[in-house]
Amino acid sequence: MTDFNTQEQQEQALLQKIDRTRIPAHIAMIMDGNGRWARERGLPRSAGHRQGVETVREVVSYSHGLGVKVLTLFAFSTENWNRPPWEINFLMSLPEQYLHTELPKLVEKNVQINLIGDPERLPVQVRKAIAEGREATRRNTGMILNFALNYGGRMEIVRAAQALVNDVLSGKTDARVDEGKFSSYLYTAAIPDPDLLIRTSGEHRISNFLLWQLAYSELWFTKVYWPDFNRLHLLQAIYDYQQRQRRFGKI
Ligand code: FPP
Repeated sequence: MTDFNTQEQQEQALLQKIDRTRIPAHIAMIMDGNGRWARERGLPRSAGHRQGVETVREVVSYSHGLGVKVLTLFAFSTENWNRPPWEINFLMSLPEQYLHTELPKLVEKNVQINLIGDPERLPVQVRKAIAEGREATRRNTGMILNFALNYGGRMEIVRAAQALVNDVLSGKTDARVDEGKFSSYLYTAAIPDPDLLIRTSGEHRISNFLLWQLAYSELWFTKVYWPDFNRLHLLQAIYDYQQRQRRFGKI
């Protein structure tokens, strides 16, 4: 018998190894593998997405408990519009479903809900759910929970460039551009860049996520499908992150 065989014991062991003063302030996640999780169980893809929402509940709650300051979840990309209509509709029902049960808890936990991405193409029920979430948590000062919906990194950069050009042309700002000024035109204007990016399901790609913001982030990949991702995996990612040396180009 091993010493740490239950999930609870493994969790305690990892928690003892983790430096609680160096929890990554901003964690971004590419939640991938719902479809494969379902297929391996002979279930429809929707079952994978539904189970994926359960993982979101757990990850949000646990990250908050650990003192993460910003959690950014890639829930729907600009490329995901190429999926079959039934699946798009299903994915679009998830933010509302999640917030329906979680919003009161998020309000109480001082979490701030935010959207990154272009709301224009999102169905009205998604915009409404997010707007309500934002409004209800507007005065909160704790963890920022960013939902990336209809989000694409290139689209975000192009949109920022266009907004900056418009402001230069209208005389709102001068024509000097530096990184700080450019960042202020991104969806993440007031938010520090991610310290850690987690991607599930064994893919080793960024997939057009936070292209500008991930410049110096630590990347952590796992083969585990998103519906199976749990607090132990999150603790392992944080522990591995703490073993790395972030040099930001310096020696
Ligand atoms: C990527 O591939 C995943 C998505 C497009 C959707 C992810 C959405 C969730 C995990 C739920 C979001 C929850 C809320 C509350 C917004 P895939 O999972 O379809 O997997 P595959 O590559 O195995 O087919």
